[in-house]
Amino acid sequence: MEIIITPDYEAMSKMSAVVIAREVKRKHDLVLGLATGDTPIGTYRELAKLHKEEGLDFSKVTIFNLDEYLGLAPLNKNSYNYFMWENLFKHVNVSQHKIFVPQGNTDDPEEFSEWYEKQILNVGGIDLQVLGIGGDGHIGFNEPGSSFASRTRVKGLYEQTIKDNARFFDKEEDVPRFAITMGVGTIMDAKKILLIASGEGKADVCKEFIEGPVTSQITATALQLHSYAIVVLDEKAASKLERKEYYNWVRDNKHVVEKRIGR
Ligand code: PGA
Repeated sequence: MEIIITPDYEAMSKMSAVVIAREVKRKHDLVLGLATGDTPIGTYRELAKLHKEEGLDFSKVTIFNLDEYLGLAPLNKNSYNYFMWENLFKHVNVSQHKIFVPQGNTDDPEEFSEWYEKQILNVGGIDLQVLGIGGDGHIGFNEPGSSFASRTRVKGLYEQTIKDNARFFDKEEDVPRFAITMGVGTIMDAKKILLIASGEGKADVCKEFIEGPVTSQITATALQLHSYAIVVLDEKAASKLERKEYYNWVRDNKHVVEKRIGR
């Protein structure tokens, strides 16, 4: 994993948008996996800015979102579909028929999940998957104990996730107890992964998933087994990392090697 520590939320947002934009420019028909939550809002704002000011072109990009609450219709204000439209889709030139978000109000979640996996395969797999991380170490809604081989399916939400996400709802009881989420296996099949994290509240879980042992109890640790994962953190989220100086040294010196091997 490449660990990039940035000073604050703004810098983390800019850096992660640069990583995404680089991939979009490299491959115009990029298949981009996206995440919801507070963390990527700044990244999406930066992408919208790059689109508006520098013409970053999303017209051929296909998007697959990680997850959606089960039972919420796409236009429900608490749905992740709604979140994505508000925070990104309506601000860039992504084509509507290239947007895939799990359908929360499907009659048959199992059939839907199989269909979703097939759509990802049909376009050749995800090129870059963007992730946040939950306080319990989840990626997508892959709660503690999710198999590293899991595919898109319904998952029951862990108590901590329900508490963490209650802030988006009127009251905790309103938080749906289930979600449709890409599996850890689905995420791990992405060619590249970018995980972003910000704030003191993520410091413990970032230390655990970057420097701790690989375990399905913290599903983000699966990224240690991925061949191309970038983690962009702000100082607060990185504050408990033991090897911080080493990561910073690599960040500041890797251009020397990249130059030599002609990247
Ligand atoms: P957050 O959520 O960005 O709102 O902290 C992250 C997540 O649960 O994956």
